[in-house]
Amino acid sequence: MNKTREWKSFLTPYEQAVEELKVKFKSIRREYQDTNGYSPIEFVTGRVKKISSILEKAERRSIPEAQIGREMEDIAGLRIMCQFIDDIYAVADLVRKRSDMTVVYEKDYIANPKESGYKSLHVIINYPVQTINGEKEILVELQIRTLAMNFWATIEHSLNYKYTQHIPDHLQSKLQKAAEAASALDQEMYTIRQEVITAQLLFEQKSNIVADITKNLQSLYAIGLVDEAEKFQERFTALWSSSNVEELDKLSREIKELLPSYRLFFKKEL
Ligand code: GTP
Ligand code: MG
Repeated sequence: MNKTREWKSFLTPYEQAVEELKVKFKSIRREYQDTNGYSPIEFVTGRVKKISSILEKAERRSIPEAQIGREMEDIAGLRIMCQFIDDIYAVADLVRKRSDMTVVYEKDYIANPKESGYKSLHVIINYPVQTINGEKEILVELQIRTLAMNFWATIEHSLNYKYTQHIPDHLQSKLQKAAEAASALDQEMYTIRQEVITAQLLFEQKSNIVADITKNLQSLYAIGLVDEAEKFQERFTALWSSSNVEELDKLSREIKELLPSYRLFFKKEL
């Protein structure tokens, strides 16, 4: 087998793992939003390490090629972004409880930030992938962080890239200050967490009701209840820009009561 093919087949399970895990963490987000209205996961990204970076790290760490799969834990990497610091630990808890992945170990760079100022919670997991040659367990690195931590790490990473790990002193100290500012932002945000969550819940609720009303108004027009639909439409237009969720909800219910499918459903329920 040639080298390119070998790499391709070596990396396939990692690519599959990243895709599967992105789907899984996005589903967690959806499930939270649909039930709680608030999700500890804001967004998720993932990548498979480039061959050149794998080789470079293997050399730096003196990892023999045959050991790369066992010793390099970040060939498959997921980043999970959260709004608030305590969400990070909620996500980690969730990971610990799942039966489709096993935690190997954790590195808490929030409790113990790196000298650079880097903060994140790293959770290294064993993840089984089903391949045509049977099950293969691989290591995956989950980096769980707040939006502010991610902002800082992304910028610091590009500077490191530019200066090939040798950031000049004056930039280094600016970055450390920026890291402190990012932490202060996270702490400040944490104090208004409850208000932010309530506002987001309200927003979610309102957009669900608005979506319902729009859909049901269309149905009213479609079944020929034009006069009624127009009256509702007027009330809806007046209410729409207000934040009066209760009134919107009331309107939504009134519209629903006129819809035959809704009535039928409830008759059946009775
Ligand atoms: P490498 O840093 O990848 O050689 O692995 P390691 O075994 O030292 O693990 P560590 O937990 O230190 O870092 C793993 C990953 O975390 C890195 O590949 C980066 O994505 C991220 N990371 C760690 N330290 C820093 C940092 O100072 N700045 C930024 N931007 N990212 C970091
Ligand atoms: Mg490192």
